[in-house]
Amino acid sequence: MHRTIFVTTALPYSNGSFHIGHIMEYIQADIWVRSMRMSEHKIYFVSADDAHGAPIMLKAESMGITPKELTDLYSKERPKYLNGFHIKFDHWHSTDSKENTLLSHEIYKKLQDHNLIEKKIIKQLYDPVKHMFLADRYIKGTCPKCKSDNQYGDSCEECGSTYNPTELINPHSTLTGAKPLLRSSEHLFFKLSDPRCTSFLRRWINTKNINNKNKLQDEVVAKISEWLGKDDENSKLEDWDISRDAPYFGIEIPDFKGKYFYVWLDAPIGYLSSLKSYCTSEGINFEELLDKNNSVEQIHFIGKDIIYFHTLFWPVMLNFSNRKTPDSVHVHGFVTIDGKKMSKSRGTGISPLHYLDLGLNPEWLRYYFASKLNSKVEDIDINKDDFINKVNSDLIGKYINIASRSAPFITNFFSGKLTFDKNTEELMIREIKLKLNLIIQLFEDREYNKATREIMSYADYTNQTFDISKPWEIAKKARNGDASSIKNLHEVCSFAIARFKAISVMLSPILPETAMSICLDFFKIKYPFKWDDALILPEKIEPFKHMMSRIDEKIFSKLFEEQKTKEKESIKMLNDKDLINIEDFAKLDLVVAKIVNCENLEESNKLLKLTLDYGEENYKNVFSGIKSYYKPEDLIGKLVILVSNLKPRKMKFGISEGMVLAASNKDDKSKEIYLIEPSAYTKPGMRIT
Ligand code: 2FM
Ligand code: ZN
Repeated sequence: MHRTIFVTTALPYSNGSFHIGHIMEYIQADIWVRSMRMSEHKIYFVSADDAHGAPIMLKAESMGITPKELTDLYSKERPKYLNGFHIKFDHWHSTDSKENTLLSHEIYKKLQDHNLIEKKIIKQLYDPVKHMFLADRYIKGTCPKCKSDNQYGDSCEECGSTYNPTELINPHSTLTGAKPLLRSSEHLFFKLSDPRCTSFLRRWINTKNINNKNKLQDEVVAKISEWLGKDDENSKLEDWDISRDAPYFGIEIPDFKGKYFYVWLDAPIGYLSSLKSYCTSEGINFEELLDKNNSVEQIHFIGKDIIYFHTLFWPVMLNFSNRKTPDSVHVHGFVTIDGKKMSKSRGTGISPLHYLDLGLNPEWLRYYFASKLNSKVEDIDINKDDFINKVNSDLIGKYINIASRSAPFITNFFSGKLTFDKNTEELMIREIKLKLNLIIQLFEDREYNKATREIMSYADYTNQTFDISKPWEIAKKARNGDASSIKNLHEVCSFAIARFKAISVMLSPILPETAMSICLDFFKIKYPFKWDDALILPEKIEPFKHMMSRIDEKIFSKLFEEQKTKEKESIKMLNDKDLINIEDFAKLDLVVAKIVNCENLEESNKLLKLTLDYGEENYKNVFSGIKSYYKPEDLIGKLVILVSNLKPRKMKFGISEGMVLAASNKDDKSKEIYLIEPSAYTKPGMRIT
């Protein structure tokens, strides 16, 4: 039976670039979607930018741009990553969209109709300088328990205790340094602790989905059950504050002036909005598609840090707005590097763009993740040697090896034609079918590590049977015209190629580009594969051409190295009086910065306004006289060197907060000017020393 499935990945905040954790989740979901499509199920695979919330508003403000402009900046770079790693969403939308506003209003009204929304007055810390209420992360002070300084508003990193921000000793706003005031404000609460919600949830987590399977992984059920308790007396669920005071970048709450939905209310609704926007572009009736009584399945891929929102709030919100609830929430763990959590400040972590820029094959990473992923909520570790070994030994040594050894015999002796008699054809198809059914199920169950192990054991078997037959020896006799050797050689190599084709079909959700070139260039058949294509024995092949390279350890190692600038300085001989000492030089704070925005100032024929990210969420605006040499759109994304401690200068168009280094001809500045670009291995925030 062909199923219709609506699949999403978590919506990334639009105030940052993708990190390797995002890419892992998208690859996990993309492999699943591709494999399900091979069974001819109809899949709608969508995602979107999660555009709202205080951090986005504040970051945009510090960059001197609007939140919409900030979102657009990151939105523009998304395709580079998605195409780069062959991640193929049907649609990418934004929570800052008309669809999301409408749907959020609609769902909110339904929740109101069910009497699940309540107004309460609460007391919160307020920044009198910034004129805004402060979320816990914007308040720091001394821990009330262990007295450690510099602790956040909700918990202490030293002693681990949790508390209310109002309990902090000497609290200050991290935005302005001001002492926060305690102020009252009216908020909207979603009554999650209402017995209707809790009893719905207890039922929801324990009933099977439309396919008679568990909706959630066992670990996830265990976690939520702790929160839910066995009955309402033991429940830890609290009502949920879904409103925020202005200023806030979000969706205004109808009939509640100056208040906005908390970002986590409209974020998951973004799943529906993205699908809705896709439906509009495809002429599909969205409401009909997701009708409660329709058999369309709804599946979300997410990370373990956002279980609470997806398995408690989200199903309840959907249920009490008379919508279909998720059929499954697939939760994965975090990505670790050599067993350590990724951290930008410690320089651990792998940049997905750096991976692509180094020319590393995206399918190696897809395969590596697949070889590690299972259906559990486990962290996925990236280890350099393990990675190199997996790719080189499995993909090259086992898989590609089959074709590279057997194809030349078929080309040289049999003009590319394969042979199977009735009997062997039947046996071969039976053998492949057995393996294939297992693989299909493992993909569907997200047991990709088992799937890759099974596929590789089939590749091992193929190579071993090939070796045992010693085709190179048969070929010697065949060359002398020995008829039975010719037949034997033809069969041995045809079997190997048939198995190679089956393995290519099995690996194609993981290696879509390789599968495509094997289809189009080697077998000359149509792409993409369906699972059943594995059971159609190939008739002929084209001469073997390079299909995939081994990993070059030297280049791959660069991914893990601390990214140091390798620029050499040219030293000029100067007179003594021109010389400066090291202290003079040390006065300059030269830092690597990235141009994240560039504005053309219509009224100036010399200046461009550059917004520079110089690390750790710090930004400066600089006016630079390079207009005649650079187009603004070409500058975005470039790395430059910023003199960051230059006294700010008031100019006609605003304050210039620094200077970027450029080279020009000493005698004639008007001729040419080139920005000094540090090596691509450097990162914003690195100091020039
Ligand atoms: O944790 C995050 O990155 C959120 N932006 C995920 C949102 S998922 C969905 F609810 F939109
Ligand atoms: Zn403490």
